Amino acid sequence: MIDGIDPGRIPRHIAIVMDGNGRWAQLRGLKRTEGHAAGEEALFDAVEGGLELGLPWMTVYAFSTENWRRPLDEVRFLMRFNESLLLRRRDDLNERGVRVRFIGRRGGRVPKRVLRHIEDTEALTAKNRRMTLTFAFNYGGRAELTDAVRAIAGEVKAGTLKPDQISDRTIARHLYAPDMPDPDLMVRTSGEYRISNYLLWQSAYSEFLFTDVLWPDFRREHLFDAVREFQNRDRRFGAVET
Ligand code: IPE
Ligand code: IPE
Ligand code: MG
Repeated sequence: MIDGIDPGRIPRHIAIVMDGNGRWAQLRGLKRTEGHAAGEEALFDAVEGGLELGLPWMTVYAFSTENWRRPLDEVRFLMRFNESLLLRRRDDLNERGVRVRFIGRRGGRVPKRVLRHIEDTEALTAKNRRMTLTFAFNYGGRAELTDAVRAIAGEVKAGTLKPDQISDRTIARHLYAPDMPDPDLMVRTSGEYRISNYLLWQSAYSEFLFTDVLWPDFRREHLFDAVREFQNRDRRFGAVET
């Protein structure tokens, strides 16, 4: 039991934009990359909080398709850092019943070795069901929709799908994780009020929560605050109160 949280109305899926690492570091006279490193503790405290809540799905934005625009040394750091984080944490996550998955483009500039570790971690944790922790890595909502459209066009060309059979369910089925429920709650840290190409299709009816906390300072208490706020919202999905 967590104070002020109704255990019967825990969101099914929380998606987080872990933002503000660079500013957190700059405020302390550190290098931006040290902010990314400090974000690891925040992430795993948030995961612990999610497990305490009984949250079944959590998705975190780790690297966007636009983050390649950053200086090469920061990009290199982020590739190595995400890889080492995976290797250091996967056994622990596995023991806690967390299924680790990745959404994003699996190719392009992502090093082959990183892709192999991603696949190994997914295989290692595939049977876990307590929580699915999805890393959006080399992820962009537009890239995801573009990839879906390509796959659908391929089926139309092959004659296995007719254009008038395409519905929103067809599109949802061609996303990177078709079984992932849409996020009920999207949290973005660091006082930025934008979506930055995250889960564009899936967030159609998500509740948004923005906090000024910089990601490395985020802890499970902030996640609990977000859930409390979520439980006060009134979701209508386009309908009217009855
Ligand atoms: C988020 O922190 C982490 C990634 C985008 C990889 P930032 O690096 O964007 O931090 P700020 O926004 O510059 O402070
Ligand atoms: C979004 O944050 C991507 C991640 C948190 C991985 P950014 O810091 O890259 O987004 P913008 O550039 O401020 O929109
Ligand atoms: Mg940022």
